[in-house]
Amino acid sequence: MSKEILDLAKGSPKFLEEYWKNLDLSTTKHGIEYSNLRFSPNFGMDYIFNTTDEMKETIRKIHKAVGNANVQGKHIIVGNGVTHILMAAMYAYYKKYGNDSVIVKKPYYFRFPDFVKISKLKLVDDDSDKTLKPIELITTPNNPDNELRVSRSSSKQKIYDLSYQWPQYLENVVLNDTDIMTFSLSKSTGHAATRIGWGLVSNPEIAAIMEDYVENTTVGTSNESQERARLILGIQSELIENKSGLDCFSYGAKELKKRWDKLSDLKKDLTFEIVNKKNNGMFIWCKIKDGSNGFDHMMKNFNVKVKKGETAGMGSEYFRLSAGCSNSTFEEFYDRLKK
Ligand SMILES: Cc1ncc(COP(=O)(O)O)c(C=O)c1O
Repeated sequence: MSKEILDLAKGSPKFLEEYWKNLDLSTTKHGIEYSNLRFSPNFGMDYIFNTTDEMKETIRKIHKAVGNANVQGKHIIVGNGVTHILMAAMYAYYKKYGNDSVIVKKPYYFRFPDFVKISKLKLVDDDSDKTLKPIELITTPNNPDNELRVSRSSSKQKIYDLSYQWPQYLENVVLNDTDIMTFSLSKSTGHAATRIGWGLVSNPEIAAIMEDYVENTTVGTSNESQERARLILGIQSELIENKSGLDCFSYGAKELKKRWDKLSDLKKDLTFEIVNKKNNGMFIWCKIKDGSNGFDHMMKNFNVKVKKGETAGMGSEYFRLSAGCSNSTFEEFYDRLKK
């Protein structure tokens, strides 16, 4: 048995680490600005409650370059990770339409029950209770199984969490165009700890409530983080638009494909089943074939820590592994599986 516990429970997008380490920042305008980034002594003294026009323009540009969201006529709200934007969106719907619950289909991202509880709403998994007025939260592709999801309720208030709607996780990215679409710097470029997320919102009243929410819960999203995010996203837009070098999405797609191909070769000999319909995504959603406890099985047999199936609203035979871990973690995991 290998000595060290391997943590494959955490969802840090470290598969993009090597890309950023090796990127020549001198090849793009934003890259040069990034490498010379020095916050002057008075930088950040003027409160910025939502975001700068430059940041909004950069967000529009990256979506145009990737083609994953229609930004035409959308209001942009930037928050402390997409977490903040999802909370703001739930609050805005509750405030404007009096929604009292949130529909989320299982398996779901493990933090959703807490987000809903903090928002003082009720979590349900369908709209059969006609006494409720739910918001529907649709994550597509989904965490943990990378399933492409569509709305399945009659609720008019929908939030699309598109955190994984980037080329590294999908065969084909589509042009999304819904009322509230949310994105994360974490799952797009890999910068999880910079804590930036954004929402594209059609309805100006909803957008204004969301802006107020962000302002009142933070007195403005960190401008230093926003500046970093602006340059990181700007570098990627330039690389794609000018076809002048490898962008992080193409790199990420290649890296994850390599990993999924390796796993597929092992598939038939594994003691667990991989549930993902396609061999793609940031996470590997698994099920123990004999129905026993997935977390215990992985600890006992491989010394690997996984995310428990129960956290996604499923049974204990399910579990989630991160395919988006660092190269060395993935290699070590692969070796343990192969033995
Ligand atoms: C589906 C989904 N939504 C939201 C988040 C939170 O993202 P952020 O780090 O931008 O707050 C995650 C992070 O793993 C996620 O998987």
